Amino acid sequence: MMHIDRHEKIFIIVSILLLVVFATTLGVMAFAHGYQVPEPEMVVDPRTVATPGFSPFAEPGLREVGPNEYEAYILAQTWAFLPREIRVPAGSTVTFYVTSKDVQHGFRLENTNVNMMVLPGHVAKLKATFDKPGTYNFVCHEYCGIGHQTMYGTLVVEP
Ligand code: CUA
Repeated sequence: MMHIDRHEKIFIIVSILLLVVFATTLGVMAFAHGYQVPEPEMVVDPRTVATPGFSPFAEPGLREVGPNEYEAYILAQTWAFLPREIRVPAGSTVTFYVTSKDVQHGFRLENTNVNMMVLPGHVAKLKATFDKPGTYNFVCHEYCGIGHQTMYGTLVVEP
């Protein structure tokens, strides 16, 4: 049998244990806590994404797709989100579709797992359920120019 130094053996075992810990953490986050990776939902042309008839982002906003089920189409541009405010009743599940018509932006919705990079040409998608009434701000968290810090919007969950 091949001889392995005692210290080397310890390092091999520790490395394998770390991988097991990381894989377990990932599994618990994904399946027990519902963490998701933003899906690249579809590709759009940023030059026509805001043109009526070319994409759902030409009329950004909320669509009711079922009982307590909504889709939110949000268009990011320098330096605002369209629409600026969304209102849903408590207990709603909202699927967010976000894209940019100009430069790279971000979309982070406070107190939720929704955190996405928003790239022109790509539609980012994440889903969240809102049981607690309240105000949730969403902010752009990718530097996008001189007005970056003014780029935000609000999701209001009504009782
Ligand atoms: Cu948009 Cu920073």
